[in-house]
Amino acid sequence: MTAADFVVVANRLPVDRVLDADGQESWRTSPGGLVAALEPMMQAAGGAWVGWAGQPDLELDPFTANDIRLIPIALSEQEIAEYYEGFANDTIWPLYHDVIAPPQYHREWWEAYVTVNRRFAEAAAAAVAENGTVWVHDYQLQLVPEMVRALRPDVTIGYFHHIPFPAHGLYAQMPWRDQVLRGLLGADVIGFQRAQDANYFLAAVRRRLKYDVKSSVVEVPGESSTHPALVKAFPISIDTAPYRELAASPRIQARAAEIRESLGNPKHILLGVDRLDYTKGIRHRIKAYSELLRQGRLHVEDVTLIQVASPSRERVDAYVTLRDEIELSVARINGDTDTMGHSAIRYLHQGFPRDEMVALYLAADVMLVTALRDGMNLVAKEYIATRADNRGALVLSEFTGAADELRQAILVNPHDIEGLKDAIMTAVEMPAGEQGKRMRALRKRVLENDVNAWSSSFLQALADARAARA
Ligand code: G6P
Repeated sequence: MTAADFVVVANRLPVDRVLDADGQESWRTSPGGLVAALEPMMQAAGGAWVGWAGQPDLELDPFTANDIRLIPIALSEQEIAEYYEGFANDTIWPLYHDVIAPPQYHREWWEAYVTVNRRFAEAAAAAVAENGTVWVHDYQLQLVPEMVRALRPDVTIGYFHHIPFPAHGLYAQMPWRDQVLRGLLGADVIGFQRAQDANYFLAAVRRRLKYDVKSSVVEVPGESSTHPALVKAFPISIDTAPYRELAASPRIQARAAEIRESLGNPKHILLGVDRLDYTKGIRHRIKAYSELLRQGRLHVEDVTLIQVASPSRERVDAYVTLRDEIELSVARINGDTDTMGHSAIRYLHQGFPRDEMVALYLAADVMLVTALRDGMNLVAKEYIATRADNRGALVLSEFTGAADELRQAILVNPHDIEGLKDAIMTAVEMPAGEQGKRMRALRKRVLENDVNAWSSSFLQALADARAARA
């Protein structure tokens, strides 16, 4: 196997395994923006991608798909329970999202996290060429940068954190807080979504490890020498082209009209699109909406809320409970307010292909993004990318990374239910002229700072780090 100059390490591979009716296996590029952003560069650079194929005990040899070398990492049932569902998604995820759900601290989960991170690091170290680059992604793999550096000191290492990083008062809860900081500091460049995340991380490094920090650069002591680690915000975005193209297609526009029709052509369609996750503020959104109906500020004949809640992490307790709560309240609200022809909430616990998502974005007059905490929220950016006619209104939580950039959205604190109700009414009643003014500014931002701009700026920082090493 020839070594790769550029290696991406992420919990998931960029392809999904699909089995046809005869049990024949094939691989389909997963729709995530990360793949789209990195694909051209990976193809040019002879890149490799280390990741998990999403199923237990799948021992696969490396293979090539779309000219990218894929290096699958096998996880056992128990490792999925302890590393993925446990430490990643029941310890780190809730802790880093400001303990919206209580984080669980279990020593066995931590042990599994270390073991699995080492497996990813060893695969990356074995795949990367002399003086090559390794780019590690997200909270599942925070120990990988330090592990790769120990195995391969010649390699330049980047890490990008896709979710929030918490304030020190919360971060300090974690029993393994110092080990995780040291794990991340193995990288030459550490990227966060918001300036606030980068600042919280630097504050934790100063307070816990007492390392020297000068204007966003940490001097990280090693066995024989120190290395600089640059800590900076690189707000991620989407590949806008497929969204703009689909939105312009007559087929998708007809589908959007069909969706409106099938809901009884209400005056206003509100839309929420989320993984079914307690960070997304779905309950707060539904509560505000149901009070508007109950108080007569909205009428069920005039308005429908489409809530897409795609299934996620279904074996983690907090997600099981959340699903029950949401489905109970949706059923109650519909039961109390529906007429034969109109439904208050059309709830879909399903994932949809991108075509259908764009049709939904086109059908929606108001997009509701009410996350209690969110690293970025790309749904907000997808909605904006599809609104070529500059119509539509975006209600956006201040607690998303996107709120730093999308200042012309209707910004809300989702904990303030009265404020959220007023924001929904402002969106529903906003005159076309005002919508257009805001949407033009939002589109300018999203089309300029797309995912290519994001990956270019991160890769430039890595190239600078490599030049400085030499
Ligand atoms: C967030 C995380 C990703 C993760 C995705 C889906 O966006 O930042 O790292 O892949 O959620 O979650 P899942 O657990 O299904 O990979």
